Amino acid sequence: MFSYDANETPIVRPWLVDPKTDARVIRLMVYVWLMMEMDAVDYLATVFFDTPQAPFDLHHDMARHLWDESRHSQFGFRQLPKLGVDLMSVEHSLDLYNILVQMPPHERYAMMTMEFEAGSFPAKAHVMDRVRELNDFEADTLLAFDRNDEQNHVRYGHRWLPEIMAICGETRPVDEFVQATKEKFKAVAAIHGNRTPHSLPPERRLTGEKILRLAGVA
Ligand SMILES: [Fe+2]
Ligand SMILES: [Fe+2]
Repeated sequence: MFSYDANETPIVRPWLVDPKTDARVIRLMVYVWLMMEMDAVDYLATVFFDTPQAPFDLHHDMARHLWDESRHSQFGFRQLPKLGVDLMSVEHSLDLYNILVQMPPHERYAMMTMEFEAGSFPAKAHVMDRVRELNDFEADTLLAFDRNDEQNHVRYGHRWLPEIMAICGETRPVDEFVQATKEKFKAVAAIHGNRTPHSLPPERRLTGEKILRLAGVA
């Protein structure tokens, strides 16, 4: 999802953190980022399905988590066309899903809450600061909702990861398990990652270079 090649994918990591990047480019990229959170709905749904014995309260919070992610995806889906993006040009990567479903549900949930979500705050704080330059009340509000939701998701992770671990027969201490799972993810990604990197040819897909043009800065 994040690349270093502006001719490959829409979210170009170095541009996202470069203070010289135009804020309109950052706004387009974060809306793509949000729209692509549809993959979080996909892989979190598998955790739901794979833990039928979980207590109701766990599934209740997980249902809220699912709804939040679908809403985050809608933020991008709704805003991108207003900024000139043809939604048919935005790829939905299946790559992360493909990797995570090779791992058992407690490992999937640990990666999601303790790695991807817990690790997203510095980048999103930077993005929020930059987008604020645009005086775009709607963008600021959507990003604030997103950050609040993500903080809740990490809270859910702290609350429910030990329970999901117990359901799956995992007995290591949580910290040790999370650390080991991050290492395992790298190994699984090396085997199962990059199998479905793109669904559209380069000329039809939204890329960083095309975002520069849409933002009017190219
Ligand atoms: Fe999200
Ligand atoms: Fe989330």
